[in-house]
Amino acid sequence: MPATLKDKIDHSALPEHIAIIMDGNGRWAKQHGKIRTFGHQHGVEAVRDTAEACAELGIKYLTLYAFSTENWVRPKYEVNALMTLLVSTISAETKTLLKNKIRLLTIGDISKLPADCRKSLNECMEKTKNLDRMNLVLALNYSSKWEIAEAARTIAGKVEAGELKSKDVDEKLFASFLSTAGMPDPELLIRTSGEYRISNFLLWQIAYAELHFTPVLWPDFRRNDVYQAIIDFQKRERRFGGIKPVTKQHA
Ligand code: IPE
Ligand code: IPE
Ligand code: MG
Repeated sequence: MPATLKDKIDHSALPEHIAIIMDGNGRWAKQHGKIRTFGHQHGVEAVRDTAEACAELGIKYLTLYAFSTENWVRPKYEVNALMTLLVSTISAETKTLLKNKIRLLTIGDISKLPADCRKSLNECMEKTKNLDRMNLVLALNYSSKWEIAEAARTIAGKVEAGELKSKDVDEKLFASFLSTAGMPDPELLIRTSGEYRISNFLLWQIAYAELHFTPVLWPDFRRNDVYQAIIDFQKRERRFGGIKPVTKQHA
């Protein structure tokens, strides 16, 4: 049998955390002569296949950028469609998450999401909270600048209240006030749709991530694209500012 892409993966050197900027739904819909929301609907299939592939491989964290703080400027019908899709997908997929032992988490200010979205997210997070095969982290109403400003504000409040000393504020403490506190930083960041930008996603956490850009539009993204990104990642020489042989201090 010819070797598959999956066979080319070194299972002893997998990233622990993969983050994905899922982009290109609108262009995919346009290519199919349909309205943008058709692309979002088909994006769900890509999410399902990607999450399943990552869980099977043993990836511990998969973070998906689903809605940015900037996305609110889109037409109301599109924002509504995205929120409705989120509710229906979470409700429909909870069974699969339970079966596959995947825990659902969110980052971002979900208090600003519609009540039915918060309800289905909270229910799903509660049902899956003790599962540990993989953490599926949805970035919702998320942006990195928001998150960093929030952390700074909280820390400043604690200093003001005398609960913290300013001399104790270092990288480790700061990271513990980000919404990703307790999670390893992503070693691999994927962006689909051929755009070469980060769009306000995990700016702090990707300080040393390997970046993988693919022209594939998100609704077409499948497990083979995940495998390809991991194979690409495994070819990179990660130096963390050092010289070969690698002294991995930022792990
Ligand atoms: C990504 O696809 C989905 C979200 C940002 C919610 P887009 O909707 O940005 O699709 P394009 O980039 O316009 O093709
Ligand atoms: C980034 O995609 C946000 C999400 C994938 C949720 P966008 O389509 O919003 O980003 P820009 O506008 O191309 O930077
Ligand atoms: Mg886009």
